[in-house]
Amino acid sequence: MTDCVALIDKLYSTHHLDKAEYSALIKNGISHSDYLFTLSDKVRRENYGDDVYLRGLIEFTSYCKNDCYYCGIRCSNKQAERYRLDKEQILECCGTGYELGFRTFVLQGGEDPFYTDDIICDIVSSIKKDYPDCAVTLSIGEKSEESYRRYYESGADRYLLRHETADYEHYSKLHPVGLSAENRQNCLKTLKKIGFQTGAGFMVGSPYQTAENLADDMLFLEELKPEMVGIGPFIPHHATPFANMPQGTVELTLFMLGLVRLALPDVLLPATTALGTIHPQGRELALKSGANVVMPNLSPVSVRKKYLLYDNKICTGDESAQCRMCLQKRVESAGYRIVESRGDHAAYNERK
Ligand code: 5AD
Ligand code: FES
Repeated sequence: MTDCVALIDKLYSTHHLDKAEYSALIKNGISHSDYLFTLSDKVRRENYGDDVYLRGLIEFTSYCKNDCYYCGIRCSNKQAERYRLDKEQILECCGTGYELGFRTFVLQGGEDPFYTDDIICDIVSSIKKDYPDCAVTLSIGEKSEESYRRYYESGADRYLLRHETADYEHYSKLHPVGLSAENRQNCLKTLKKIGFQTGAGFMVGSPYQTAENLADDMLFLEELKPEMVGIGPFIPHHATPFANMPQGTVELTLFMLGLVRLALPDVLLPATTALGTIHPQGRELALKSGANVVMPNLSPVSVRKKYLLYDNKICTGDESAQCRMCLQKRVESAGYRIVESRGDHAAYNERK
């Protein structure tokens, strides 16, 4: 019999478990979720009070040269509608977002070679020029160290690149040959080295995932110490090879969020749209489990239904202002409050 309460206590006080302990806790601990969330909420409040930070997500291209088996905008999905936003359209999204109180803009897209480094740098520096009090986050995939340096020098503050799964073999079951866990993890190390506030993360319940894989994800996070961790359930997309695979569960996703909060007490942890998609109160529950970030959609409504990584994605028909207000109500109903600041990582101000 595993003593899950003792393991949760140990993680709370030492921020570390070994692989066997994580595996046992992930396999057997779900019935102790309420206890975990009491501690993870306590830790989030000690670090960030009841603050919840806002990130305006701008999905600026649905073109992608990669072919990840789980993703709806993979290049082999010929049914996917493709679009690109130009600089003016992106700046317009930022303008709308700024009025609504956003002080972070996240530019996310598929890996789209149309956007050369010159174009990305021009977009980033234009946003920083127009909105100097805002942070810019990039989420545009695996690039060279030189490219990452150029983005940083053009003013990008943060970079999101989920590691997806730390285990090399599992990674190869989710991605075609040519994409490797090794390269992805090296990219994350490079991003940290350059000085980006860096986000890693993974899907919960992705095909073939085991408790040991999730344990490795926790150990990977302990070692990398990313400033942000994006965690959401895997949700099948009908036009991918994983169309018939089961989706991740709300319970395990929340449990992993709680564990991450204990392992990395001051991490920035979003309540993801994917969690909101599989449960009507998914994001509220995430906040109560340790999450402290929400990422409403700022993309133009005309393109939202074309950025479908998975089926039934929420918020694709709503105006940015509606999403902003909807999230505010949800955050408040969960007992927290939205703050309109850049919402940097706690260690960031000490570092800069
Ligand atoms: N279900 C859930 N999350 C997904 N992502 C991509 N496809 C899916 C899916 N089918 C996640 C990946 C990626 C992030 C942008 O979205 O983890 O890094
Ligand atoms: Fe978009 Fe609720 S967050 S409608």
